[in-house]
Amino acid sequence: MKKKLLSIVLCVAMVMSMATGCSKASTQTSGDNDKLVVGFAQIGQESGWRDAETASIQFYAGQKIDSIELKFADAQQKQENQIKAIKSFIEMGVDVIGLAPVVETGWDAVFTEAKEAGIPIVLVDRMADVDEKLYSTFIGSDFILEGKNAAIEMATLLGGKGKIVELEGTVGASAANDRKKGFDDEMAASYPDIQILESQTGDFTRAKGKEVMESFLKTYGDQINGVYAHNDDMMLGAIEAIKEAGLKPGVDVKAVSIDGVKGIFEAMAAGEANVTVECNPLLGPQFFEVCEKLKAGETVDKWIKSDEGIYRQDTAATDLPTRKY
Ligand code: AHR
Repeated sequence: MKKKLLSIVLCVAMVMSMATGCSKASTQTSGDNDKLVVGFAQIGQESGWRDAETASIQFYAGQKIDSIELKFADAQQKQENQIKAIKSFIEMGVDVIGLAPVVETGWDAVFTEAKEAGIPIVLVDRMADVDEKLYSTFIGSDFILEGKNAAIEMATLLGGKGKIVELEGTVGASAANDRKKGFDDEMAASYPDIQILESQTGDFTRAKGKEVMESFLKTYGDQINGVYAHNDDMMLGAIEAIKEAGLKPGVDVKAVSIDGVKGIFEAMAAGEANVTVECNPLLGPQFFEVCEKLKAGETVDKWIKSDEGIYRQDTAATDLPTRKY
């Protein structure tokens, strides 16, 4: 029921924000009104987390329809589509451009175009590997810390000893690069008796997470004591694969992932996952607050960090009703 409500809100907000469905954004100009005109180039819809982030941005803009005009582009997981969307926002003369970069590199030219046009860029949830001068701020999480916390949780579950596999996010994404670094570095530095058998991308999707876990299980079978996934959606896919292989996820194979979506709380409450390290997608209010400030010519912090927790199986059933995404 709640899912249905969320999708209705999403659709209404999409209509109100003139969602384009792909790289081509609306050609409406900011004109002579006093509204804050914002272009947002979203990655796509690879996970429940991403849908929650999109809903947060569109819902906020939808509620402030008298003062905010949102031009929203869904890039369908392609950097070229995000670049096209940014170029069209520049042509429209929007006040601010928001971007969740699908990968870290390859942004210099288009960010330079935006800078030359006097349009500030706000990075939302993922970082871009560019000179600091090319963007105004990054709103989002410390992905290295998330990876490190996941490693500590996994080590505790395994009593400091065992063999694990790793499901990585999209190749080249800051969320994947940094979650891997934070986890692998902590394991290497503090837990010499835990071996990472193999690490492969599951592209942040449930379907790919399942597929890669199936192949890990074929290769290593019951040698696998734990699985670390860079997001909950891949873990939900991995859980299906573990069950189909006749093993018990959360028991035979400890499960630690990142995000904090409702689905993983349900899995934890059912004893099939162990820990999720939270990553907050509800960035709409902070994003538009920053856009207003930038439009007014104010300076903002270079990194606006999200406040996040760690959630474990023992409190999952009581935490579940409080989760917002
Ligand atoms: O950039 C954040 C990551 O992207 C989330 O962890 C993942 O679920 C999403 O798709």
